[in-house]
Amino acid sequence: MATTPSLTPFTERSNDITKNIDIANAEQIFDLIHTANNETFHGNSDDPICNGILNKICIEQCALVAETIVKNIFTNPNGKIVLSGCGTSGRIGFMVTRAFNKILNNLSLPKYYEYLLAGDDRSLFISQEAKEDEWNVGSSELASLAKSYSRVIYFGITCGLSAPYVAGQLDYCLHNDKFIPVLLGFNPVELARKHTLHGLGKCFYDIAVEMKNSHIINPVLGAEPITGSSRMKGGTATKIILETIFIAAHLKAGHIPSNLSTKTYPEIVQYFFENIYYKAYQQYPVYKNQTISLIQSCGDSLIKKTPNKEDGHIYYVANGTFGVLGLIDASECPPTFGTDYNTIRGFLYNAYDALCNIEGDLEAKFGDLYAISWNRFELLFSSLNQCDTVILLISESDNLEYTKRVINEVKKLPCTMFGIIKEMSGNKPLIDLFDNCIEILNPKNLLSSSEILNVTGIDFYEEIILKWILNTITTGAHILQGKILENYMIDVQPTNFKLYNRLLEIVMRFSGASVEKCTNAIISAIYQDDDPTPYLSNDVTIHVSRAIGAKKVVAIAILIASRNLTVSIANKYLEDNPVIRNAISSYK
Ligand code: F6P
Repeated sequence: MATTPSLTPFTERSNDITKNIDIANAEQIFDLIHTANNETFHGNSDDPICNGILNKICIEQCALVAETIVKNIFTNPNGKIVLSGCGTSGRIGFMVTRAFNKILNNLSLPKYYEYLLAGDDRSLFISQEAKEDEWNVGSSELASLAKSYSRVIYFGITCGLSAPYVAGQLDYCLHNDKFIPVLLGFNPVELARKHTLHGLGKCFYDIAVEMKNSHIINPVLGAEPITGSSRMKGGTATKIILETIFIAAHLKAGHIPSNLSTKTYPEIVQYFFENIYYKAYQQYPVYKNQTISLIQSCGDSLIKKTPNKEDGHIYYVANGTFGVLGLIDASECPPTFGTDYNTIRGFLYNAYDALCNIEGDLEAKFGDLYAISWNRFELLFSSLNQCDTVILLISESDNLEYTKRVINEVKKLPCTMFGIIKEMSGNKPLIDLFDNCIEILNPKNLLSSSEILNVTGIDFYEEIILKWILNTITTGAHILQGKILENYMIDVQPTNFKLYNRLLEIVMRFSGASVEKCTNAIISAIYQDDDPTPYLSNDVTIHVSRAIGAKKVVAIAILIASRNLTVSIANKYLEDNPVIRNAISSYK
């Protein structure tokens, strides 16, 4: 059912700032996304519910959780911190786990952090959205992970307060004393999902209400720049909040020597939000001109075809934490924009040894789409052409000679190459090799806490800037390719319950037709059958499983619902008019 705006969760609303982003040029795209991103920190003054992470309640919630960790986990030799979520939420949880276990390792302290991800490690690169709907898998995975620990603080990360996988885990925590559950998301509790979960007998909202005496961190960030694209502001706020809570806890526990530890918990949280992350937000436009060139080049790669009609590609070739961010950014493009899995890929120096994921080498188990080594990238050299963009993301300098060799080799090829490099003395020789390069400057002039950076090797300031750059590049490139209409994703794949409902809203909006007519059109598009009747009684889970691999479902459904086209005529029309945005708007 279509919902009135006030009942639509903030994470599924359309943002007024970006409502014409589909007709913007690369520079305007940068400005619009940057303006919308400000709401991550300050919310929207026109709407008191939309308060951003810098609001007092959020700071206090984060401070309380940090204190709880110090008192309950760091004092317990068998205590653990578990981060869990779906899609980007789970990937950011993985990334934070990886970063903090490394810090602890450097400090010769036990590794306190563990992660869970719907769909297991495969979801790090290839989304397994259907797994996000399985609340019972979520709870049994948590039960099995936690069985050897006596005290666990569990972070259920779900931007929309909606993922069943997380709901199952929160519910499990609420009924087991050893857990301290924390819900992290970006809607008010009243807007948590109200769809009853089969077999559990309650919905996310019920569980969120039960959590009211536990920890809920839920600042409202306003609508995403692209409607529903919670990898953007939601992913950014998740990263900032988790990192800040854990840094505050380690400072107060005396694990990291710093004058900052004399501050109170809320003061530390506020200090990091304002002096690292918001400063990074203010500094980010320094990289505007180069980011615009990258949006343009990547947009060209998505639009252009080689003389043999092959598509262009975007390849992130990376090391260190910048590489992990590149892999995460690439992974969201297929479900969000309908992009082919091979079109945008990431390659990480030292591959799975550097990634430090639980399951190790996924290429050996699952094949080529999981090949992330630089050797694998070198195998592509013979095919790289003028339609491809290669972006080197360098945050470590320990493989300098190899990196120089790769850059020099790629320079000889007809593709376009850019560098995004973290400022480090060891990286200086690399910068001169590039014609186009962003050097992400070290925040030493901004922070009085550089001693923390020295002890931990934290890249959080540079990483958040890189996240904005990469999200802006890939979102911008797909906008130029015509994958966004107004600010809606019009090639999203209905591969789980949430995405199916998002798609229904989009089809209704652009066709103007009734729920029933749009539902029929979506079913016809999924099953490629003009008569939806035989499939109408199927559960949404069946539609969702049939939709995996289906192409251009949104566009086909809009054409059927608005113009009464047959499936084959809609398919043919889209073949002749491959830019989806133009195809739909010319038919409106
Ligand atoms: O279902 C896919 C997806 O929408 C991803 O794009 C997103 O990162 C993920 O779900 C997580 O959503 P949430 O954080 O709201 O649970």
